[in-house]
Amino acid sequence: MKIEFLPDKVTTDAEIGELILDVAERAGISIPTGCLMGTCHACTVELDNGEDEPEIIRACISGVPPIKPGQEKLIINLFSDPTW
Ligand code: FES
Repeated sequence: MKIEFLPDKVTTDAEIGELILDVAERAGISIPTGCLMGTCHACTVELDNGEDEPEIIRACISGVPPIKPGQEKLIINLFSDPTW
């Protein structure tokens, strides 16, 4: 499946269940990290999985979810959080 990272619009291939942080790194996208255990929220990104509202996830503990039928790619939007 395809994943597109915003705002840079970098698209890469990924397998379901792969850690989103690993996929981003492979695509040359750097997601800020801290604890790598899901507690500090430094790696928070928005996942647009075809629902009305994007899902807020932590890239260091979240695997790539299956895409919905009819959806051609998953979109991940990196926050630009000024505190990080
Ligand atoms: S790096 Fe701390 S929650 Fe992901």
